[in-house]
Amino acid sequence: MNNQKNILVTGGAGFIGSHLVERLLAEKIWRVSVVDDFNDFYAPELKRANVQSHLTDENYQLFEANISDAKFLREIFEETEFDVIVHLAARAGVRPSLLQPKLYAETNVNGTLNLLELARDFNVKQFIFGSSSSVYGNNKKIPFSEDDKIFQPISPYAATKAAGELLCHTYSHLYDIRTLCLRFFTVYGARQRPDLAIHKFSQLISEDKPIQVFGDGTTRRDYTFVDDIIQGVRAAIDYDNSMHEVINLGESQTVELRQLVALLEENLGKKAVIDHQPMQPGDVPQTFADITKARELLNYNPQTKIDEGIKKFVEWFRGQRAAAEGSKQ
Ligand SMILES: NC(=O)c1ccc[n+]([C@@H]2O[C@H](COP(=O)([O-])OP(=O)(O)OC[C@H]3O[C@@H](n4cnc5c(N)ncnc54)[C@H](O)[C@@H]3O)[C@@H](O)[C@H]2O)c1
Repeated sequence: MNNQKNILVTGGAGFIGSHLVERLLAEKIWRVSVVDDFNDFYAPELKRANVQSHLTDENYQLFEANISDAKFLREIFEETEFDVIVHLAARAGVRPSLLQPKLYAETNVNGTLNLLELARDFNVKQFIFGSSSSVYGNNKKIPFSEDDKIFQPISPYAATKAAGELLCHTYSHLYDIRTLCLRFFTVYGARQRPDLAIHKFSQLISEDKPIQVFGDGTTRRDYTFVDDIIQGVRAAIDYDNSMHEVINLGESQTVELRQLVALLEENLGKKAVIDHQPMQPGDVPQTFADITKARELLNYNPQTKIDEGIKKFVEWFRGQRAAAEGSKQ
């Protein structure tokens, strides 16, 4: 097809990235390049499985590379004229960032800067940045809105995401690159990162092992189903009404941790063994997205309420567990 466009998805082997790639390949109008270093933050085999079905698509190419390697990235840009960059590669996770702050800064700040530099040098006009609700820190104002101040992050991870947003604004202002910073609120669904609560708890509950609940179970998260996030990211790829925006992508429905555990128990058909632990440094008590702006600018309309989303997640979880059991026999 001649009128195809070129898009670079960093982190395209990860949870959210692989869903986006799937969507883009299905549209047939994109030639999709992915940069991912398959690092061992969680099992790289899971990331290999995520890209398995993409590898045979003629509109897909995979570069196994680190976004810190500016020289290698430049070679990719010399080969392909990208219309859009969706930058999702990052060290994710709040608690591990307290242990490896330099690694988080190197990947999430310098890596982002490398990509913005290349966007400038190679005249890429649209840059989407995967930011996070964690930038809101201990924000007391509910729901969180894009105009709230974000200068008090409470984890290195959150600080690196806020820095990435600032760099996006700078490059938009200086070099006329449209930059859209999408603040994702706890994303879940098939292929969710195994370190995140819904996936981790499902695994442990299934194995009759205790789950660690930090705090008294009343912490709240705005859990967002991955299909809804992809709807928002996809709309951001086409957005052309202004040069820089920060936009929340959440479900705008906040759920207590103990309610989440109850839903998992119900769907898994098993009781959780709960190991109560104190609140962890870096963890925020609640997240809750005001999605008015996303609705207005991106026509964003999230569809999946938590009951339905957890049901779908558990279906996927059971399926891949059964497949893993089967392959052992
Ligand atoms: N999942 C969530 O709830 C959530 C919430 C807020 C923000 N985000 C952001 O969304 C993005 C995607 O998150 P995810 O949950 O899919 O995580 P993920 O870890 O599954 O995906 C990230 C991918 O980036 C790759 N990567 C990491 N460092 C890299 C590097 N230096 N060079 C090249 N590739 C590298 C990883 O190998 C991985 O495949 C991240 O930027 C994350 O910070 C996620």
